[in-house]
Amino acid sequence: MNLERSVNKAHAEERHGIFMRMYDLIEKKKHGEELTKDEIMAMIKGYVDGSVPDYQMSSMLMAIYFQGMTEEETANLTIAMAHSGDMVDLSGIEGIKVDKHSTGGVGDKTTLVIAPMVAACGGKIAKMSGKGLGHTGGTIDKMEAIPGMRTALTQEEFFSTVNKIGLSVVGQSGNLAPADKKLYALRDVTATVDSIPLISSSIMSKKLAAGSDSILLDVKTGSGAFMRTLDDSIELAKRMVAIGEHAGRRTIAVITDMDIPLGNGIGNSIEVKEAIETLKGHGPKDFTEVCIILATNMLYLSGKGDLDHCRNMVEESIRNGSALSKLAAMVEAQGGDSSVIYDPDKFEKEKYTYEVKSTEEGYVSHMNTEQCGIASMVLGAGRETVDSVLDYSAGIVLKKKTGDLVKVGDTLAVLYASKAELFDKSEEILRNAYTFSSEPVISRPLVLAKVTIDGVEKY
Ligand code: URA
Repeated sequence: MNLERSVNKAHAEERHGIFMRMYDLIEKKKHGEELTKDEIMAMIKGYVDGSVPDYQMSSMLMAIYFQGMTEEETANLTIAMAHSGDMVDLSGIEGIKVDKHSTGGVGDKTTLVIAPMVAACGGKIAKMSGKGLGHTGGTIDKMEAIPGMRTALTQEEFFSTVNKIGLSVVGQSGNLAPADKKLYALRDVTATVDSIPLISSSIMSKKLAAGSDSILLDVKTGSGAFMRTLDDSIELAKRMVAIGEHAGRRTIAVITDMDIPLGNGIGNSIEVKEAIETLKGHGPKDFTEVCIILATNMLYLSGKGDLDHCRNMVEESIRNGSALSKLAAMVEAQGGDSSVIYDPDKFEKEKYTYEVKSTEEGYVSHMNTEQCGIASMVLGAGRETVDSVLDYSAGIVLKKKTGDLVKVGDTLAVLYASKAELFDKSEEILRNAYTFSSEPVISRPLVLAKVTIDGVEKY
């Protein structure tokens, strides 16, 4: 013990005249004690500057995994992580800026629909989004499927686009929450990703650093989501809402279903086309309803009136075409070819298509949504590793989903790829994702709960 302590003395950090050793902090957390704000600040600072090594931080992460953190500790951890890099100052943009974060899913192209809806109703969206990895897609990849579209803008371009048209969506810039980047990579290899305090601080540190005044969280639940059960999703949502409000940002979380792919399209240009159809009022019912609910809550967070009034405005933005015009305006402002928004047939065509026909008869009783995402990834639509190159036109259009009656020979899905040899593996994964039942199936609601600082409302 004494030997270990003297070795760790090298990593001691002086704070307010007290020596704070990482060893002692690990010991404290191991016994379930609460870390103070200063201890958390020192630990994160030390980890980012390299004075706390990976082996000690790994041990701390595992202690947090088993012992958890109080709401206050999680908020302090989030703030320390947010302040480890640039804190974006959006005061150069007029009005209340509202952000949205989805915990990730399959077929989730909501940002491309709700950001234009909110901007068409007078809201302001200055949003940074990420790239996809594994079975989940990323908004930036979908945007880059639009010919010419730039997702890296200068700060001046970003601010002036939002001030002029009400929205801009760009990739995450260089030094946003570097502590999260380093910690996430460590969690990934130490089996400590699935911890509610660690997930919530990771997500919220980036949201706080990104600078918006209020935040809508779309917390996914089900087989395609991080959180597989409704109870865990609600716990994660409660923690993130508490962090946002603690930091002075109005925050609401909506828990939405990811036990079924969202909409029918999975894949980058396929999803952009579905987003355009939705803005024209011809999108899939499930996806359209989720978008309307999310956009309504974002407008509410923007101070545009009560929820009924905000919903009416959102619906009108589809009927009068103003939301579609906003998407075209953003594409144009970011260097893209806006003519594809009005004529999606202009998107690059897929080289090969393949129809997956059902060999079974019955009702689709469940879809393993993670496997649907993987079936699309192997066609080239997603990244297996961070270095994978995407095929924007590849992906899947689902023809049958949970609750549908299927006969032998019916088309379950159409696959798109630029290499025909990719179809076999994708087909096998997709077939295994479907479960059938001889009894009709009652689909569960798309929006399962809402979490605000005042409590949880289950639907
Ligand atoms: N997304 C994040 O940004 N962080 C996590 O820990 C999990 C999902």
